[in-house]
Amino acid sequence: MMLQVIRSARRMAAASARWQQRDRTIGVVPTMGALHEGHLSLIRAARAQTDVVIVTVFVNPLQFGPQEDFRRYPRPLFTDLRLARSAGADVVFAPSAKQVYPDGFQTAVEVGELARRWEGAARPGHFRGVATVVAILFQLTRPTRAYVGQKDYQQALVIERLVRDLKLPVRLHVLPTVRETDGLAMSSRNAYLTAAERRQAVVLHQALAHARQRIRAGERHAEPIIEAMRRLISDAPGARIDYAAIVDAKTLEPRWRLRGRLTVLVAVWIGRTRLIDNLLVDVP
Ligand code: PAJ
Repeated sequence: MMLQVIRSARRMAAASARWQQRDRTIGVVPTMGALHEGHLSLIRAARAQTDVVIVTVFVNPLQFGPQEDFRRYPRPLFTDLRLARSAGADVVFAPSAKQVYPDGFQTAVEVGELARRWEGAARPGHFRGVATVVAILFQLTRPTRAYVGQKDYQQALVIERLVRDLKLPVRLHVLPTVRETDGLAMSSRNAYLTAAERRQAVVLHQALAHARQRIRAGERHAEPIIEAMRRLISDAPGARIDYAAIVDAKTLEPRWRLRGRLTVLVAVWIGRTRLIDNLLVDVP
């Protein structure tokens, strides 16, 4: 199939309804574009597992705060089309804001407690914006399977919750974080970093790897580990910590005695750029 670019919500819904009627399985990868290897790994997984692969490219204004980077967020649509096609996409759905939120739009989808911690606390309204747009995108594309990254761990859990609570007939796949060779998690926002900041940004992964190593070595208390992570990060020039936490991998509640399935979370400002990362650690 050639790459099809769809910009109208009505056309997208009609196309998906047609594929569904013909019993084609549909794989959907929601993105905000500026595609990198992290996104491409999701597209390739969809290609391997479904008949029709739809990549959505939409910089969702609802999930950005008023002081955030909505306006300067990169929008390299032509490069994205080429990359999406090379990874196996059949369709890129790239609607305008008016297509997604026509005049008079006034509905929101809000996930509870899970969405209020960490990123939810740091970015009020963020997950309401994410949950609302994902519900709309799923309604328009009708995925059999949808693919998200572990990179945005809390977002993956919020979408999982949304799918369950609204009984959306989609199987959600959470795929591992794709990293640069020095460990930095790939992110469209890495493009904001200067060369010097890019070198400092490796501190997120270093702090996470340090935590994982201490837990593997037998440390069972979170406090000294978080203390060490904070020190590592504050020692990097230009880096300012937002939060570092060790949490229950399902509920995202902080864990002080370390046991079971845990996620180590960090959010760090590198200059004017806010980056997040995480690692899963199992304590037997
Ligand atoms: P975006 O940041 O473009 O990410 C799109 C998808 O790619 C998300 O599921 C994200 O977790 C995944 N991803 C990003 N970097 C990754 C990496 N290094 N390795 C693996 N997967 C990675 O997340 C969003 O867009 C938006 O919030 C969206 C869900 C599209 C709603 O607007």
